[in-house]
Amino acid sequence: MMRTVRLPGGDEVVALGQGTWRMGERRGARKDEVAALQHGIACGMTLIDTAEMYGSGGAEKVIGEAIRGQRDKVYLVSKVLPSNAGRKRMKRACEKSLKCLGTDYLDLYLLHWRSGVSLDETIEGFLALQEAGKIRRFGVSNFDIDDMKELWETPDGQGCQTNQILYNLSRRWPEGALMDWSRRHGQPLMIYSPLEQGRLPAGGALGAIAAARGVTTMQVALAWVLRHEDVFVVPKASRIAHVDENLGVLDIVLTDDELAALDKDFPPPEGGAPLEIL
Ligand SMILES: NC(=O)c1ccc[n+]([C@@H]2O[C@H](COP(=O)([O-])OP(=O)(O)OC[C@H]3O[C@@H](n4cnc5c(N)ncnc54)[C@H](OP(=O)(O)O)[C@@H]3O)[C@@H](O)[C@H]2O)c1
Repeated sequence: MMRTVRLPGGDEVVALGQGTWRMGERRGARKDEVAALQHGIACGMTLIDTAEMYGSGGAEKVIGEAIRGQRDKVYLVSKVLPSNAGRKRMKRACEKSLKCLGTDYLDLYLLHWRSGVSLDETIEGFLALQEAGKIRRFGVSNFDIDDMKELWETPDGQGCQTNQILYNLSRRWPEGALMDWSRRHGQPLMIYSPLEQGRLPAGGALGAIAAARGVTTMQVALAWVLRHEDVFVVPKASRIAHVDENLGVLDIVLTDDELAALDKDFPPPEGGAPLEIL
């Protein structure tokens, strides 16, 4: 059984979803990308994250192909560019995303990062799309603690379902301040780049733990993120073998000794560290 996380509005999402950045950029890769997403869905990784930015709609089109005939099985998340966060432009951007995805609604629509557009207007845009049935829920991405506090003061801002942020062994910045704030306000964090795009070191504690357990370093790194029960992750895999490896992580529970060894190589921040983004 896939672990799930409950969002404030009541939606249950799987803790292990699928990312899609860099998909839809190369025609020759499309078949593998569609197959990887479909394999993930069949194995229960039914949450799919995308953005209008990815491949300028290309990633959304790959997903559209992967979910044809099975829209009801997936929880679709897309993101609006900050430059489209105004009320009118957001409607157009959302409709374009829906067309690329081949669906008439998104489960969750996120502001990709903070923009010059006021949060009031952005929330108004989200609410108008909700009313029109084009999105079910809304949220944000790359918001630091001060952005979240401001959102909480914005009318209807507390309708936010999640904040999608960068977090992995080498990016522990949200520990302490943002994670604590999010927990106190019932906001599960949606984690992106949990594998640091494959750039984590192969040796050290990570390598030793992986070797001792007979798993890969990437599996240990993903299990480390998933040790938090109130986060959900969207690793991107365009190869079926990687999808399977990521699924294998659900059985890995790191011990206190292993976590302490990882803390030595990847020290947690002291106090609140500033926002990091990719
Ligand atoms: N909100 C934002 O600003 C933001 C920013 C970045 C990302 N995101 C979202 O988060 C998703 C994930 O982040 P990401 O794509 O940046 O990085 P990531 O998931 O940390 O890493 C993806 C890379 O790791 C590889 N990989 C996947 N599983 C693996 C495994 N088990 N072993 C070894 N390598 C593996 C993939 O290879 P293959 O593709 O070859 O399988 C790909 O090259 C994105 O796709 C996107 O949906 C959001």
